[in-house]
Amino acid sequence: MKILVIGSGGREHALVWKLAQSPHAARMWCAPGNAGIAQERLAKNGVLVECVPMSAEGLPALLDFAKRELPDLTVVGPDNSLAAGIVDLFQQHGLKIWGPNRKAAQFEASKAFSQDFMERHGIPTAKSGTFSEPAAAKKFAASLGGRCAVKADGLALGKGVLLTTSVAEAESAVDEIMVGKAFGAAGQRVVIQELLEGMEISLHAICDGKVAKLFPTSQDHKRALDGDAGLNTGGMGAYSPAPFLTDAQLAEVGDAILQPWLRGCAADGIDFRGLIYPGVMLTKSGPKVLEFNARFGDPETQAYLTRLENDLVELLVASVDGTLGGVELRWAANASVCVVMASGGYPGDYAKGKPITGIDAADALPGTKVFHAGTALKDGQVVTNGGRVLGVTAWRSTLAEARTAAYAAVEKIRFEGAHIRRDIAAKALDC
Ligand code: AMP
Ligand code: GLY
Repeated sequence: MKILVIGSGGREHALVWKLAQSPHAARMWCAPGNAGIAQERLAKNGVLVECVPMSAEGLPALLDFAKRELPDLTVVGPDNSLAAGIVDLFQQHGLKIWGPNRKAAQFEASKAFSQDFMERHGIPTAKSGTFSEPAAAKKFAASLGGRCAVKADGLALGKGVLLTTSVAEAESAVDEIMVGKAFGAAGQRVVIQELLEGMEISLHAICDGKVAKLFPTSQDHKRALDGDAGLNTGGMGAYSPAPFLTDAQLAEVGDAILQPWLRGCAADGIDFRGLIYPGVMLTKSGPKVLEFNARFGDPETQAYLTRLENDLVELLVASVDGTLGGVELRWAANASVCVVMASGGYPGDYAKGKPITGIDAADALPGTKVFHAGTALKDGQVVTNGGRVLGVTAWRSTLAEARTAAYAAVEKIRFEGAHIRRDIAAKALDC
């Protein structure tokens, strides 16, 4: 098969790496890819994955490419391409593509859509309201005592959420989003949720429009600094499994969310074929969904795909074809930890073009893979090219061993200004 992967982050490197292991993959492109993706070879024939310099959001150019090269499967990583309707567009041209269509991608593209859906279909979530007027938003925030999550409705690179603990803070958060337009048009409406307390986990389930197959648990680390301090980032590290739920509890939580979600999709005429990723808070009064994403998590994917035993090509094809019911997900009985190495200053301003050394030495360690995110090749040298630069991932029989191994691999890698969190997976080991 010929496969086209859309995107350029650590998630897409993990997808390419896993897809490339499939005996079905005979040729692969990634648009636009990164320096690590360009070094991957297909297990079937040793052929290199080809990075094609096209933006993940440039739908007309991607369509032209696909009409010319006729991939048998296109796999979409990022939310923006999905929200822009890449799946509908490719399908209109008879091209097989994995990911939710535009209507289904609204679960991520509009928090107001998701919140309304959850309330109508009985999915456990935070108490909330949706507003297009600042005055009404502030009144609701005050009714929660100012203890709120104030969220821009639309896509905002994972940054459109402000957490507040007083009425004054909540009011200024509403002003920042709705009046100051801190997240642009994404903040024309806001969703305000009550502030929930508890352990946050990531759930992933792959769906084929009828059936949803739940992955094991994982946990991201969204804040920039140790101890969950500092600004929100795209994710500074992840691991799987997260030991805060037993298998039986996970199945229960999964059912409590996914069964009403599937019934709701059927009732509302939403044909969701792709990956649904609910962010869940385990509160004292039960699990509650904070938000839905409609794609693989980054960096959760790096932890998941290093544990997945299924052929990913077959899995994604079953998701598109509606045949997931007959597929059993198989996971290695191990644990995987991904530590993100970021550019100094991220998620604020940071420099690019810093030479990176030691990747090969880290990759040579057993059960270790360095996934690239913001990297580029400059005169034959891998250099930094983004905020999150690398996702250094190790898998071992226990979480403690995987964590030690991931940090040992990080030690081999150097670039100027590199920033990591030192406490990835620490909560799991303390519990
Ligand atoms: P979201 O993009 O909606 O997942 O929000 C980003 C982050 O803000 C989440 O990962 C949580 O850590 C936090 N968050 C979102 N909603 C809430 C809430 N209702 N209560 C507490 N924390 C929240
Ligand atoms: N892990 C955070 C995200 O993918 O949105």
